[in-house]
Amino acid sequence: MRRKFIAGNWKMFNDLKETKNFFESFIPALTKDEQITNAIKNNTLEVAIFPTALSLSTALDNAKDTPIIIGAQNACSDIEGAYTGEISPMHLAKAGITHVILGHSERRKLFYETNSFLNRKVKRALEEGLKVVFCVGETLEERDAGVALAMIREEFQVGLAGIPAKDIAEKIIIAYEPIWAIGTGRTASPEDAQNVCRSIRKMIYGLYDDERAAADTIILYGGSVKPENTKYLITQLDIDGLLVGGASVKADSLIQIVKNSI
Ligand code: PGA
Repeated sequence: MRRKFIAGNWKMFNDLKETKNFFESFIPALTKDEQITNAIKNNTLEVAIFPTALSLSTALDNAKDTPIIIGAQNACSDIEGAYTGEISPMHLAKAGITHVILGHSERRKLFYETNSFLNRKVKRALEEGLKVVFCVGETLEERDAGVALAMIREEFQVGLAGIPAKDIAEKIIIAYEPIWAIGTGRTASPEDAQNVCRSIRKMIYGLYDDERAAADTIILYGGSVKPENTKYLITQLDIDGLLVGGASVKADSLIQIVKNSI
């Protein structure tokens, strides 16, 4: 079912002490806000934090007995084996992690993750029972060349190949993140973001011929989201939530974003 999903992607920020400090401020602020807690109780809002791998256990301990979802920023395409430095999706699931981000543009660009490689990761994560926040988005050059939607379509079609429509709707959250808007302070205009998110929903309908799946899939916008632009973005019809990077590292700004989302 579609609901608002506000996710904080900490990237490589917040060490163990900062993680603890974050939750010490974030949890009371979240739980004492009646509107937020009611929305979470009524299943109309989910709040998720994606800390660094090192901070996952601390985050899980701190968020225990709260509705905050803790997710990982990456997972391997295999569950066990000789993969120095990798994170097993099986280990994540066993530890109580429920979500994983895959296909983030930083992983694609800096770590050379291709659509077909990501497809293996997505399938493995689903097999292990994880939900996947799958990122898509175009570069500025692709946008200027008028091929943004074609690029997104390829990321979607290859990255999510073989995944049935029902799973797309229930287990995959699509995050549209125009690469030119990530960490740059440049946000897509709410109308532009809405148009692309609407096109992604239409694309799901076109690919699967499944109106229900297209209507139910949660689609996020990400890229320079801040407390000040939250309302304009979240009120767009096809934007269900936000994937927040820089502005999620500090508890007060993420709380403000959550508040502005409901
Ligand atoms: P940003 O990052 O909010 O710092 O632009 C978003 C993301 O990369 O998920």
